[in-house]
Amino acid sequence: MSRKSNGTRENWGSQLGVILAVSGSAVGLGNFLRFPGQVANNGGGAFMIPYVVSLLIVAIPMATAEWALGRFGGRCGFHSPVGIYYSAGGRKALWGALGALTTVAPFIIGMYYVFIEAWCLIYALQYLGGVLAPLGLRFSLFQGVDAGLFFEDAAGYENFFGATVGIAKDGALFTQAASTTLLATLACVWINFRLTYRGVSRGIEWFCKMASPLILVCAIAVIIRVITLDNPSGIPGRSFLDGLGFMWNPSRNVLNESGEVVDRINVWTTLCDPGVWLAATSQIFFSISICLGAVCTYASYIQPRGDVALSSLASTATNELCEVAFGGLMSIPAAIMFLGPVAAGGFASSFALGFVVLPNVFGLMPLGQFWGFLFFFLLFLAAITSSISMLQPMVALFQETLSLTRERSALLSSGLNMLGTGVVCWFTFNLGALDVFDFWVANFLPLVAAILQTILICFVWGSTSLRSELALGARIKPPYFVVNILKFVSFPYMLLVVLFWGWRNMGSRVQEVVDSRVAQASLAFIGLSLVLTLALAIVLSKRRQKTPDENNETASPEP
Ligand code: TRP
Repeated sequence: MSRKSNGTRENWGSQLGVILAVSGSAVGLGNFLRFPGQVANNGGGAFMIPYVVSLLIVAIPMATAEWALGRFGGRCGFHSPVGIYYSAGGRKALWGALGALTTVAPFIIGMYYVFIEAWCLIYALQYLGGVLAPLGLRFSLFQGVDAGLFFEDAAGYENFFGATVGIAKDGALFTQAASTTLLATLACVWINFRLTYRGVSRGIEWFCKMASPLILVCAIAVIIRVITLDNPSGIPGRSFLDGLGFMWNPSRNVLNESGEVVDRINVWTTLCDPGVWLAATSQIFFSISICLGAVCTYASYIQPRGDVALSSLASTATNELCEVAFGGLMSIPAAIMFLGPVAAGGFASSFALGFVVLPNVFGLMPLGQFWGFLFFFLLFLAAITSSISMLQPMVALFQETLSLTRERSALLSSGLNMLGTGVVCWFTFNLGALDVFDFWVANFLPLVAAILQTILICFVWGSTSLRSELALGARIKPPYFVVNILKFVSFPYMLLVVLFWGWRNMGSRVQEVVDSRVAQASLAFIGLSLVLTLALAIVLSKRRQKTPDENNETASPEP
């Protein structure tokens, strides 16, 4: 393992380390909050049809190809998606420029992701104050709020969440003398900075190795708790199986507060909605973090002879286990059991589910403070292992274009990232900026990026290069068929989803932007970040054209 701080020779310490780091990047808030929210909002079990289709025909082949692409870039001396695209795209500036899209996307997602990470930290600490009560230690981070988050009525949880995130008006968090939320956000920014500052092996890998077992233990403990809960109220329709049914039945009845059927969700109606297809495909991209810079950047740090197909399969499988089995079993079934079908109103957003409905459930559970702590601590750890992977592509880009040391690149990326976090923390009225960032960068852009990446891999870099890269260091039989799947199945499928969605829904989305100043400001910010990254991409290709790559002594682009 080299620790050279200009980063060009940095490597992961071990094969297990890289698998844990990539799995850590994949397993995050997307698995435990976003996924159940998306399922509940997009027709329950019916959502799983496009989800599984996308997993099989797009995500698995794409993840494998992206690992190969990343390692190829790494062997050519590049670690940023800009450099990786540039080297795979035959050293053409155009491909470097397109790589700017996949470098800036995770960077922007990271801007609001740390804000949510901070909420998890606050909730975990708030519960911890209650857990410690039997030891004579009890603390609350908020004046007038009980440690352990106990409220008399359901509205209490909503008000607490609203106050924590400053939902009432823009700038609300900045008017408090010492806003706990802003302090927690700063703490999270600092942790992310420190880990990227220490580098891929001593920072990211080290942290993921420590956090992964903890995440697993917490998740399993919470799952066992949920599965073994009794129907607390004894009211029919609130068993664990009813909860699962809400989550997983492709067609189901919509009940009102008193349990009467008021509507029916039909699987066919759900499947005819292009929004559901877009949501399912994007959820997969977001969750496995493919086509968004993170996987190819991480893969570029593996040893030239490290295995790619096996690692890709291992991390995708870990992610799906955490998402479908853990994320799908935990929150919604518990909420239906404790609150009944009326809880479904709170599933409308992933945030309401995680930060309002679930605290309400913990409040009703025996030892709820302990379970609340465990759940939010799990979320917090999983969020950190993800958010560091959002910074790393930009850190690598600064190293490659501005010739900064890793430490300085980490400082610069974290600083710039914090500016964006500032924008998100300011425009908190109904979480306006966060929603705009999330929709455009985490829902819409992944598909566009995926289509471009498929073109690059299949038609520019080419199937021969992909095949030889897959064969290099392979410990399992290289899955050569992914090339054809990507070309003939994934590519048309993704085009279809984007066109179908654009045709039906683009108009209303654009209208929303026209009507909202916050949306315009947020999009302008995203645009500016993209332009700056593009400028760096141009610098990179200009420089590399002038000086033949000095770092490529390990590279043999056509192995
Ligand atoms: N996969 C993470 C989650 O599920 C999110 C994530 C990590 C991500 N790294 C990324 C999303 C890079 C986009 C880009 O929470």
